[in-house]
Amino acid sequence: MSQKKIFLVLVAITTVSFLLHHGGHLSWTMEAFRLGCSSMRFSFSSDGGSPRHKHTSVVFLKTHKTASTTVQNILFRFAERNNLTVALPVTACDHQFCYPRLFSSHFVHPHTTPPDIITNHLRFSRSEVHRLMPNDTFYITILREPGAMFESLFSYYNQYCQSFKRVPNGSLEAFLDEPWSYYRPEEKDAMYARNTLTFDLGGDKDRPSADTKMYAKRFAAEVERTFSLVMIAEYFDESLVLLRRLLSWDLEDVLYVKLNMRTASSKSSLSNELRAKIRSWNAIDAVLYDHFNASLWRQLNTIGLACVAREVQLLRRARDQLVRSCFGGRLPQLRSAAQITNKDLRPWQPSSKVAIVGYDLPANISNKSSGLPQEMCLKLIMPEVQYTRLLLRSESLRYRNRFPLRSSQQTLKRSGQRREISVLSSTQRPSGALGRTTRGTLRLTQQPIN
Ligand SMILES: *[C@@H]1O[C@H](CO)[C@@H](O)[C@H](O)[C@H]1NC(C)=O
Ligand SMILES: *[C@@H]1O[C@H](CO)[C@@H](O)[C@H](O)[C@H]1NC(C)=O
Ligand SMILES: *[C@@H]1O[C@H](CO)[C@@H](O)[C@H](O)[C@H]1NC(C)=O
Ligand SMILES: *[C@@H]1O[C@H](CO)[C@@H](O)[C@H](O)[C@H]1NC(C)=O
Ligand SMILES: *[C@@H]1O[C@H](CO)[C@@H](O)[C@H](O)[C@H]1NC(C)=O
Ligand SMILES: *[C@@H]1O[C@H](CO)[C@@H](O)[C@H](O)[C@H]1NC(C)=O
Repeated sequence: MSQKKIFLVLVAITTVSFLLHHGGHLSWTMEAFRLGCSSMRFSFSSDGGSPRHKHTSVVFLKTHKTASTTVQNILFRFAERNNLTVALPVTACDHQFCYPRLFSSHFVHPHTTPPDIITNHLRFSRSEVHRLMPNDTFYITILREPGAMFESLFSYYNQYCQSFKRVPNGSLEAFLDEPWSYYRPEEKDAMYARNTLTFDLGGDKDRPSADTKMYAKRFAAEVERTFSLVMIAEYFDESLVLLRRLLSWDLEDVLYVKLNMRTASSKSSLSNELRAKIRSWNAIDAVLYDHFNASLWRQLNTIGLACVAREVQLLRRARDQLVRSCFGGRLPQLRSAAQITNKDLRPWQPSSKVAIVGYDLPANISNKSSGLPQEMCLKLIMPEVQYTRLLLRSESLRYRNRFPLRSSQQTLKRSGQRREISVLSSTQRPSGALGRTTRGTLRLTQQPIN
C-alpha cells in the first residue's frame, strides 16, 4: 500500500512540476528524486507545488579581490528584473560607500531608500546596516584563500597602496620578508596590505600578535552570527548553489559571467613558503577563511555532494547557453581594459601595470537569433562602476516619479550634505559618460543625475 502511495505522490509531483516547468526541468526533477536532493525550487517546491517566495532583502558585503564583483552583478540584475531598490552611495562617496570609512546610513543616496539590497563596497558596521535594512534581511559575504587573495591585492594595488609602493622592485617576497619595514597601519590604503577581509567585515586588522588567535576566533563567531552565508571564492559555483537555496531563487537568477579578473600573465603562482608567510602576516583572515571554508563544506555535505555537483553542472550548462545566445554563438572575447572600445564595458584598473580584463561586444552582436534583449546581455558583462551609475539614474527617475515633491526638497538638503562628507581618494576612475557607445549597436539612454 505504501509503495502505491509513494508512486502516486511521485506521479502527482512530476505532473505538477511538468506543468510548472515544462521541458528540460522534468528530467532533473526525476533525477533530484533519485539522488534524494531537496529544495529544488526550479523543479518543485517542498510546500506542495506552489513556488515559494523569493527572498528579496539581501545584504552582500562586497569584499576586495574575491570574485565579489560577479556576485554584485548577479544582485544588480536580480534587482532590476524584480523592481527592487538597491541602496547606492551618494555621489560624494564614489561608487563605494565612502570606503574605507565605517559604513554610515548617511552614505546612502536618499533616492535609493528604503533599500531591498545593498551590495556596493563598504566597511561593515552591523548596527548601521541593520538600521537601514528590513529585519528579515539575509546577510551574505564571500572570502578567498588568503594566499591567492594577498597576491592579488599586492599586484592590483601595487602602485596605489603606499605599503606596497615602498617595496623594492615591487617584490612580494621582499614585502613578506620584512612587512613592518613597508607597512604603516594608520596610513591611507593600509587596509589593502593586511587582513583586508577582517577590515572589510568591520574588524581590527592590527590586533597585537599575542591576542591574534583569541581575537580571530571571537571575530569568526561574531561574523557567523550575522551572516547566513559566507561564500568561498575557490568554490564559487558551489557557493552559488547555497545562495540560490538560501534565497529560494531560480537557477536562472544566479547565472553569471566572471567579471573584473586579471589576465593570466599578471598572476603568479605561490610557493608553499610564500603562502605560509602570507597566512602568518594575515593571521586573522587565515582563521576566518579556514573557519568558513569548513562551514561551507559542512553545508554542502548536508545537501549531498552528488546533488551539489549535479546542480553545479546544470548551472554551468545554463550559463554557457545564455552566454552563447547573448554573444553571437560563442563567448565574448576577453580583452584588457585598455583594448575595450565600449566605455560602458571598460573596467576600472588601479594602474596600467595590472591587466584587468573585461569583455567587449562584438560589433555584429546578434539580436534576432536569440530573442534575448540586448540590454540584458550588456548588463551581464557591465563593470560595477558603470552599472552603479546606471542604477542610480534609473532609481532616481523612479523615485522622482513616485515622490515629485519630496525629491526636490532632498536635492536641496543633499547639496548641503555633500560638502560635509570628505571625499576619499579616487584616482582616475573612468569618467566616460554612459551612452557614448563607440562600437556595436548598443546605446544606453542617458539621464543626467540631478
Ligand atoms: C516592474 O515595474 C514595471 C513598470 O512599473 C512593471 O511593468 C513590471 O511588471 C514590474 N515587474 C515586476 C516583476 O514587478
Ligand atoms: C522588525 O523590527 C521592528 C523594530 O525593532 C519590530 O517592531 C518588528 O516587530 C520586527 N519585525 C519582525 C518581523 O521581526
Ligand atoms: C631589483 O632588481 C634589480 C635588477 O633586476 C636587482 O639588481 C636588485 O638587486 C633588485 N633589488 C632588490 C632589493 O631585490
Ligand atoms: C576547504 O575545505 C575543504 C574541506 O575541508 C578542503 O578539502 C579544502 O582543501 C579547503 N580548501 C582550501 C583552499 O583550504
Ligand atoms: C561576427 O563577426 C565575427 C568576425 O568578425 C564572425 O566570426 C562571427 O561569425 C560574426 N557573428 C555573427 C553572428 O555574424
Ligand atoms: C538589431 O535590431 C535592431 C532593431 O531591431 C536593428 O536595427 C539592428 O540592425 C539589429 N542589429 C543586428 C546586428 O542584427
